[in-house]
Amino acid sequence: MHSDVSSRGDEKNRGAGEKLTGKKLTDAQLLHLITTEDPGEMRELFAAAGRVREVHYGKAVYFRGLIEFTSFCKNNCYYCGLRKGNAKIERYRLSPEEILACCRMGDTLGYKTFVLQGGEDPFFDDEKITGIVSAIKKEFPESALTLSLGERPRESYERFFRAGADRYLLRHETADPAHYGKMHPPEMSLAERKNCLRELKKIGFQVGAGFMTGSPFQTPGCLLQDLRFMEELQPEMIGIGPFIPQADTPFGSQSAGSLNLALRMVALARLAVPAALIPATTAMGTIAPDGRELALKAGANVVMPNLSPQNVRKLYALYDNKICTGDEAAACRFCIEGRIRSAGFEPLMCRGDWAGFTGRKTPPGNTLKK
Ligand code: SAM
Ligand code: SF4
Ligand code: FES
Repeated sequence: MHSDVSSRGDEKNRGAGEKLTGKKLTDAQLLHLITTEDPGEMRELFAAAGRVREVHYGKAVYFRGLIEFTSFCKNNCYYCGLRKGNAKIERYRLSPEEILACCRMGDTLGYKTFVLQGGEDPFFDDEKITGIVSAIKKEFPESALTLSLGERPRESYERFFRAGADRYLLRHETADPAHYGKMHPPEMSLAERKNCLRELKKIGFQVGAGFMTGSPFQTPGCLLQDLRFMEELQPEMIGIGPFIPQADTPFGSQSAGSLNLALRMVALARLAVPAALIPATTAMGTIAPDGRELALKAGANVVMPNLSPQNVRKLYALYDNKICTGDEAAACRFCIEGRIRSAGFEPLMCRGDWAGFTGRKTPPGNTLKK
């Protein structure tokens, strides 16, 4: 499929398509594309990524309803406002009933995927998570359920999968071990993060890896490693967004990542894993008013509007100035639909599985423990 991508382009961009798609780019080529600020080269890159996306997904943009269910976290990532060491934020947890109420609201608005995301909160042990997963799947059997709860033992992931969870988001954050060490305290490790991603894949989840762009200490070489890791892992989803400082973290006085770099990485991730689901992230919309629309034009094909109750939105403060914290779920749903249409894409409220999805199953050779 991938090899005929360039033949579908318009004449103007055909040269770029042939150069950038259908073959593995060298490290030197990738480093050039990671760093180029040349408007013509960036246009060609985004156009090539757009054509690859069209081969697999056409103009469709899928919706996910995001439920930020806990702002407690036992970790201390240096970049994140939810880190345990941040004494300034007010913490909250949603009850199972409140989570279900968010899903009901989402269902009324047409969502067919719910994403439960939170800090690594030991209060939500396996028992509680499986209970919530089962309750959501019982009430909304047609809908997909994505979890994003951080690192857990394989057994926990297996329990979540058996309870009905379909997908798991766990950004690897950076594929460069030295860079990982500068973004996290010593008790966290890239090897463990990667191990979790591999286990999740073996269990049968559609898996999302990903990284921030423009994070402190990041070099073009780090981003090259991110792309090579994506090629190796072949995740079904790739989450990419600019780093944005949060005042009460160790990185609070660092600068945010640039829009152009984030867009180039979305496009390069699309070329690296052609059929991946790639969101136009909230962080993109935070650093530029039209950041999400530009991400769609650079190869993204998913949006994740917020379904969390309005009274807790501001408290899920990963970074400063996050958009949509004052808006109702319905307002975001229709706002983003309008934005997608005006950018020339087709909003779709279906489950929006990965293009290669052939039903829930555990890959051969990997049995789930009873
Ligand atoms: N705790 C889970 C985890 O870390 O995988 C899920 C929630 S965590 C808040 C979701 C993502 O937010 C992280 O993977 C990270 O990439 C992103 N994030 C955290 N702090 C950020 C910041 N300052 N700027 C941009 N993205 C940030
Ligand atoms: Fe916790 Fe995730 Fe934030 Fe790290 S990124 S502090 S694990 S919520
Ligand atoms: Fe939330 Fe526009 S998407 S208000």
